[in-house]
Amino acid sequence: MVPTMGALHHGHTSLFEIAHQQADVVVATIFVNPLQFNNSTDFEKYPLQMERDIQLLEEHGVHYLYNPTVETMYGSGFSTSVHIGGITDLLEGASRPGHFSGVATVVTKLFSAGQPDIAVFGQKDFQQFAVIKRMVADLDMPIQLIMAPTIRERDGLAMSSRNVRLSTSARLEAKAISQGLSAAQSLFSSGIRESQQLVEAVESVIAPTSAAIDYVKVIDSASLQDLSSVSQGSVMVVAVILDGIRLIDNHILV
Ligand code: PAJ
Repeated sequence: MVPTMGALHHGHTSLFEIAHQQADVVVATIFVNPLQFNNSTDFEKYPLQMERDIQLLEEHGVHYLYNPTVETMYGSGFSTSVHIGGITDLLEGASRPGHFSGVATVVTKLFSAGQPDIAVFGQKDFQQFAVIKRMVADLDMPIQLIMAPTIRERDGLAMSSRNVRLSTSARLEAKAISQGLSAAQSLFSSGIRESQQLVEAVESVIAPTSAAIDYVKVIDSASLQDLSSVSQGSVMVVAVILDGIRLIDNHILV
């Protein structure tokens, strides 16, 4: 199973390819989940392109599409929320209260509906993967999770359904995020282990743009806690607001 909110791009279709390598039958889900949007404008402006999405699903040999309505998912009287403690209070969770409960609730329902053996999620949403991994372990869900690498535009910007909402000038500036992450990787490769130096490297690449930084951090890949000294496998995470749009990215230091 590959859960998505539609407006499919190469990031999503790469997950279908990985799913095909692992499973005989691939199910995609498309559902723009109102529970996980804490900003109603973001929900209302979420791009919809169902005809094109279905064409892409066919091109990528996806066998089934599950595309429920909001009514089907959250009918009258719906009262359940799946909350994962701890790691949902940090990073995206700190800036988007309730977001991860919305994600966990919908993913639980999608898993119940489809009963997949394997589910594929992207590294692009690193914390989301960590939250779903925690949930699957804690609730004994018999599902193998696969984390797929982040697919990027030519200039390095991580693909996202939200990118189409960026103005031309903001779209040009957005490449600073991945450039900052590359600069941090270069410092790490040259032997720097102090997290503050890596964070400053990312910030200094983003600072000249009109992006407002929410956070730039180096975290432990399992606990998601800040690190003062970094090692291979530590994760650099970035969130900015550019042109009113929240963009996130990350890089696992190698
Ligand atoms: P959505 O943003 O549509 O993303 C669906 C899946 O595609 C997620 O696993 C996400 O990490 C992955 N993805 C997005 N952009 C990617 C990229 N550039 N490279 C690789 N993978 C990428 O994430 C969600 O939807 C929702 O929260 C969902 C899990 C469907 C629950 O509603």
